[in-house]
Amino acid sequence: MNYQDDIPLAKRIRSIKTFTNKSFLPLGLLLVGFCISLTFLADKSFLRQTKSLDDSINSTETNKNKSLLGHLPYPEALKNELILFSPGIYVHKEIYENFKEMQLMAAQRGVSLQLLSGYRSIDLQRDIFYENKSIRNQTAVERSMVSAPPGYSEHSTGYAIDVGDGNYPDTHFEVEFEQTPAFKWMKRFAPKYHFVLSFPPNNKQGVSYEPWHWRFEGTVNALRKFEAANKITKFK
Ligand code: DAL
Ligand code: ZN
Repeated sequence: MNYQDDIPLAKRIRSIKTFTNKSFLPLGLLLVGFCISLTFLADKSFLRQTKSLDDSINSTETNKNKSLLGHLPYPEALKNELILFSPGIYVHKEIYENFKEMQLMAAQRGVSLQLLSGYRSIDLQRDIFYENKSIRNQTAVERSMVSAPPGYSEHSTGYAIDVGDGNYPDTHFEVEFEQTPAFKWMKRFAPKYHFVLSFPPNNKQGVSYEPWHWRFEGTVNALRKFEAANKITKFK
């Protein structure tokens, strides 16, 4: 027997009515609506987060699709992320201390690490790519072996630098740089300061060997910028 059977019918009806009372309805509906919106918003934000995570951990296939003549897209550093390193040369703030220390350590061994270039705006990269290309009578494909198209240069991030040997200026931006004490020192010690050679011989991006071009991977921000480049298995 149901315990409610003990309650007189009139009272039972009244008590049920109490809970279905019209005054509770709008409040209930509001509550249900609120919960549904919350679930929906949480779901959307989760999807957004998942998507950006997916974007940053690109598959090789996606990297191939995003690349242009072997180069990957890179955003331009913000003005407030940059710091003047030497006359006319800006680098990302996060590089500054590491490069300074590396320079100092090398100098103690009589090795001169000279910063030749750092941050380049996309506009400057456009000039370099299109001006030099036409001066040298090169096609875009030929030029892309040694220079990235605008919007596709590691230099735009402020995390990439070109290094020369201060004692051997003739080797600046030449493969012969690899014969200098500066290169030999960097090859051995640069990882300690979180610098890696971006375009080693026969690199998977198909870019010409650039012993002078190093990128910094010593912060999470920097690593995220080069996540796609590090994931490439083979482009060409
Ligand atoms: N020289 C390299 C490829 C650059 O322009 O980023
Ligand atoms: Zn470079």
